[in-house]
Amino acid sequence: MKVFVTGGIGYIGSHTVVELQQNGFEVVIADNLCNSNIKVLDGIEQITGVRPEFEKIDLADAEKVQDFFSRHRDVVAVIHFAALKAVGESVQKPLEYYKNNLNSLMNVITAMREFGVKNLVFSSSCTVYGQADILPVTEQTPRKQAESPYGNTKAMCEDIMRDVAKVEKEMNLLALRYFNPIGAHPSSCIGELPNGVPNNLIPYLTQTVAGIREQLSVFGDDYNTPDGSAIRDYIDVVDLARAHVVAIRRLLDGKNKANYEYFNIGTGTGLSVLELIHAFERATGEKVNYKIVGRRAGDIEKVWADTTLANRELGWKASVPIEETLANVWKWQKHLMNK
Ligand code: NAD
Ligand code: WQD
Repeated sequence: MKVFVTGGIGYIGSHTVVELQQNGFEVVIADNLCNSNIKVLDGIEQITGVRPEFEKIDLADAEKVQDFFSRHRDVVAVIHFAALKAVGESVQKPLEYYKNNLNSLMNVITAMREFGVKNLVFSSSCTVYGQADILPVTEQTPRKQAESPYGNTKAMCEDIMRDVAKVEKEMNLLALRYFNPIGAHPSSCIGELPNGVPNNLIPYLTQTVAGIREQLSVFGDDYNTPDGSAIRDYIDVVDLARAHVVAIRRLLDGKNKANYEYFNIGTGTGLSVLELIHAFERATGEKVNYKIVGRRAGDIEKVWADTTLANRELGWKASVPIEETLANVWKWQKHLMNK
């Protein structure tokens, strides 16, 4: 069975392609490479022994998407990763973010409807919860007004899926709300490839330990948390990739309870920035050079997932211990430097 993976050359997409192939699925990828490198295909092939089909396509171009579906009539499901994802950049370039992220999703769903492809899994984000009043967040936790255009595209894409599902009864749409994805494939054949100076904690941390950055800034130690630094739910990228495989199976097996569903995908455990740094030091034996600085604008204090629904309905649970995840990202960083 063939799955169409949009944005499959990217960080989470590439790990998901590996898991799909290892679980017996055929994969075809479309990506415009705006935030990824075609060499990732080599990494995927090294792990699985199979080079996935690939087409360079901009999914924001409706005609190209129609044409793609017209030529791939054996696709039974789609996983839609393709999106721009830099929170800060989205504040500077809101139109680019709305155009890219909303049009891509609408083009994909429109073509699916036209060509009779019924099943879609979409990459959403815990960003839709903002700073929740009660933790951990369940799927019933009310969404809050997004802090950034990027976050707003995720909320709007969810709304599009919900509204389409009401009238397109044959379609099965499912959103996964990722918490903070981190890590790399244990083979070190694929991992995160941040462009320029990283904004996210883990790539900044590993680049600091590697000597590429001078010092890691810890944004705030005056939050209302046990050690004062902010808390997140860090989910291993391979665990996250596996969640997509079970989500696709759920749709293909007709096990979904509604034709629009959404699930939290996290570990269920919150870790503070300082706890994460110390876990990294334990896992790798490396020392992290960091200093405490002021809070970063727009950051929330704490968030972590209640994953009961995904555990029960998808039969999925995060399983990679945080030390293993951190050892893998360090191995990946060293691999990048030796290339
Ligand atoms: P990524 O940038 O590594 O991957 C996205 C891929 O989509 C890239 O290869 C990019 O080239 C491609 N792409 C973007 N716009 C495209 C378009 N118009 N046409 C074709 N290809 C296009 O990002 P990622 O971290 O792998 O994220 C994947 C998805 O998960 C995104 O939708 C992102 O918003 C979502 N998400 C990511 C995180 C995270 O922290 N990484 C958290 C929550 C949700
Ligand atoms: C994690 C923690 C920082 C860098 C972002 C998006 C979110 C989602 C995941 C897509 C925070 C702290 C960070 C640094 C630090 N993406 N930090 N020093 O902000 O939780 O979430 O990625 O949907 O929408 O906003 O992730 O990795 O940037 O930060 O102290 O140099 O690390 O303040 O507490 P974030 P992050």
